Amino acid sequence: MYPVISKTTIAPGISRLEVEAPLIAKKRKPGNFVIVMPVEKGERIPLTIVESDPENGTITLIVQAIGKTTHIINKMEAGDHFIDVVGPLGEPTPIKNVGTVVCVGGGVGTAVIYPMAKALKEAGNRVIGIIGARNREMVILKNEMADCSDELHITTDDGSYGLKGFVTDALAQVIDENKTIQSVYTTGPLPMMKAVAEQTRKFELHTMASLNPIMMDGTGMCGACRVSVGGELKFTCVDGPEFDAHKVNFNELIQRNKTYFNQEKKSLDAYNEKCKTRGANV
Ligand SMILES: Cc1cc2nc3c(=O)[nH]c(=O)nc-3n(C[C@H](O)[C@H](O)[C@H](O)COP(=O)(O)OP(=O)(O)OC[C@H]3O[C@@H](n4cnc5c(N)ncnc54)[C@H](O)[C@@H]3O)c2cc1C
Ligand code: FES
Repeated sequence: MYPVISKTTIAPGISRLEVEAPLIAKKRKPGNFVIVMPVEKGERIPLTIVESDPENGTITLIVQAIGKTTHIINKMEAGDHFIDVVGPLGEPTPIKNVGTVVCVGGGVGTAVIYPMAKALKEAGNRVIGIIGARNREMVILKNEMADCSDELHITTDDGSYGLKGFVTDALAQVIDENKTIQSVYTTGPLPMMKAVAEQTRKFELHTMASLNPIMMDGTGMCGACRVSVGGELKFTCVDGPEFDAHKVNFNELIQRNKTYFNQEKKSLDAYNEKCKTRGANV
């Protein structure tokens, strides 16, 4: 059992949880994720380890409620327990001092880009951060990203905060003003990462995308997370989650992520109905 030590709501439908997991906290590197199971007989889902505190034996997770399992997690409070937390999983982000790097996070993808940006800054890089959200309320980790960025650009779709537009609008401006960018890192919704990749391809700018396919075991056994990268089959959980964005077949991945859409919707509807009739986090 993995106790929740603290829980805070950081935006509508987005929570930050500190979870006791001492062995994972000790081994975790930026880019790693865990596979968590909040309730018995529940589903196992992947979540990035946003931060870890080896001394206190805790890891920090940031979760956006989109389907049944993430809704269950979002309703957890301090004192509740995860049934299982497996990790650290995935290849850590290769961190080198290359000069100037751009870290682009969209939506809850900001929780995934933040540990990468922080590590790249600590390695001595000049970090240009770009984070985007639907509106002011949904912007997360603004202060944390500001702390590890030499420059931070914030965009909102509706213009209620920062630049009105998408992260790609800010990226266009950043590329135009900085001729010495060595690498771009991106994570967020798949269409956003695809758009970032198309944009940087024109400039032959090395770009890494942290992918978020459906995962099951997280250990390379089931094949659920397979992606095509440069025409080769890769398993995101063990070969990734980061890949050369210019080689990823995003269209195929977007299609694959829709595979269980009807079942996922049914499952969430049934869960919401149960919550309504029986209350609490059933
Ligand atoms: C390596 C990795 C790290 C991740 N880190 C985080 C994180 O730090 N915080 C966070 O909130 N989420 C993260 N995700 C995404 C998270 O795992 C999914 O949101 C979760 O599995 C959805 O489960 P669910 O049962 O709530 O929703 P489901 O019922 O499974 O899905 C609901 C809807 O979301 C879509 N969906 C399903 N899986 C994903 C996915 N992997 N990415 C995007 N959309 C999806 C479905 O198509 C469906 O429309 C990560 C994913 C991966 C692979
Ligand atoms: S999640 Fe099963 S092989 Fe990656």
